Amino acid sequence: MSFDFYKIVHFLGIFMVFSALGGQIVMAINGGDAKQLPGRKWIAMFHGVGLLIVLVAGFGMIAKLGVGFPGWVVGKIVIWVALGGVGAIAARKKNLAGMIWVLVLLLGLTAAYLAHYKPF
Ligand code: HEM
Repeated sequence: MSFDFYKIVHFLGIFMVFSALGGQIVMAINGGDAKQLPGRKWIAMFHGVGLLIVLVAGFGMIAKLGVGFPGWVVGKIVIWVALGGVGAIAARKKNLAGMIWVLVLLLGLTAAYLAHYKPF
């Protein structure tokens, strides 16, 4: 598979992760017992499958680039882990959910910056 193919699939995963986090954070802000709501299953599926797709396609691109593990890739993996955990934190600490939403955007922006400019 080509580098461009992996990149487009990488984006699909990113869209899934960020739309899931938006849903999860809105649920946290609205409050109540989210476990009872059917939308939760969609959020869990998009979040989990999206993260997996981002990672697999990301490593596919790294293999095609043949660059090994430079600092920007390590930074992106740290961001990936953070995006895996922030939704659960927002669900537990509902008063922080709005701030976490902004953090999610900043993490996405940083991941895009790291991949494009490869500063280290
Ligand atoms: C969920 C977190 C992530 C987000 C939001 C994200 C975002 C992006 C974006 C926007 C691009 C396109 C940059 C460009 O074309 O200029 C990109 C490319 C890339 N990403 Fe990610 N990424 C994430 C996680 C990862 C992970 C975990 C890896 C590695 C395992 C990775 C590896 C790459 C690679 C290798 C490229 C291609 C860089 C190039 O064009 O030379 N990304 N990512």
